[in-house]
Amino acid sequence: MKRQDLRFFHRLRVRWAEVDMQKIVFNGHYLMYLDTAMADYWRALALPYEEAMHLLEGDLYVKKASVEYHGSARYDDVLDVGLQCTRIGKSSIEFAGAIFRGEDLLITATLIYVFADPATQTSRAVPEVLRQVMLGYEAGHSVLEVRTGSWAQLHEDAMKVRIEVFVQEQQIPLAMEQDPADEQSVHAVGYNRIGQPVATGRLLPAEGGTARIGRVAVKRVLRQTGVGKQVLNALVAAAGQRGDRAVCLNAQRSAEGFYARSGFAPRGDGFEEVGLPHIEMVRSV
Ligand SMILES: CC(C)(COP(=O)(O)OP(=O)(O)OC[C@H]1O[C@@H](n2cnc3c(N)ncnc32)[C@H](O)[C@@H]1OP(=O)(O)O)[C@@H](O)C(=O)NCCC(=O)NCCS
Repeated sequence: MKRQDLRFFHRLRVRWAEVDMQKIVFNGHYLMYLDTAMADYWRALALPYEEAMHLLEGDLYVKKASVEYHGSARYDDVLDVGLQCTRIGKSSIEFAGAIFRGEDLLITATLIYVFADPATQTSRAVPEVLRQVMLGYEAGHSVLEVRTGSWAQLHEDAMKVRIEVFVQEQQIPLAMEQDPADEQSVHAVGYNRIGQPVATGRLLPAEGGTARIGRVAVKRVLRQTGVGKQVLNALVAAAGQRGDRAVCLNAQRSAEGFYARSGFAPRGDGFEEVGLPHIEMVRSV
């Protein structure tokens, strides 16, 4: 197996505890590495695993795992664990795994999962929608669809994400979360391929050519997979389409780096809003 055949990689660093008396990684740990990578694979498909499996009324169980050892990893090595879905049967899903240190192939593996009813642990057919998500991802298709629209069109799904992120996770009171600006804003909601809303944001009307973006939120388990960037891009594009010249936002300090990567620059001193440190950021459209 070659590196370039694989689309998905998860990176990890070997820890002391994983090394045996021969000072190489104990053979059993590679299955753990593959399993850790698998959790990331679902994130790469924009599927929050637990919720997605609940919706699909099943769960995945490992039926068979085989590992072939070609080389040894050592303490502190950085490993790239690649996974590729190679076959979807009636109820089984087969993955090829490969672990690399740089260009060196250390491990190849085959993992067979069975989609099953969690209550009885009896196999069920892989849902068509899941099959399509996986085949689409492996074929290089986008795993996210960002829809933009009015509050009337998108409020239900936007609020699902906002309540989860701002109210439940960040403890912002619900009353402060809602305001009349929603009615005047363009909203964006990112949906995964099984139709779950996973991210949102809004674009307020422009004042003097500058529009304000706000309420950008991504479901916790799907952060750092590029979802937030796609929602932000959709809002900036919507501002461009209606002729705004610039967009600004009050960024939570913890998200400053995220906005900076999309071309936003800080302006002025920081301040506090809803009990959290913020900084104003701006970019041209
Ligand atoms: C902030 C938030 C929207 C970012 O969404 P995300 O889906 O995790 O971001 P992405 O995966 O699209 O990241 C895009 C880029 O920003 C970087 N990035 C993401 N979050 C970052 C952070 N907190 N600090 C620094 N960089 C960050 C990513 O590494 C990525 O960089 P790259 O393009 O160089 O690879 C998300 O973390 C979130 O919902 N946080 C909680 C709510 C919140 O803080 N909202 C913002 C209110 S102002």
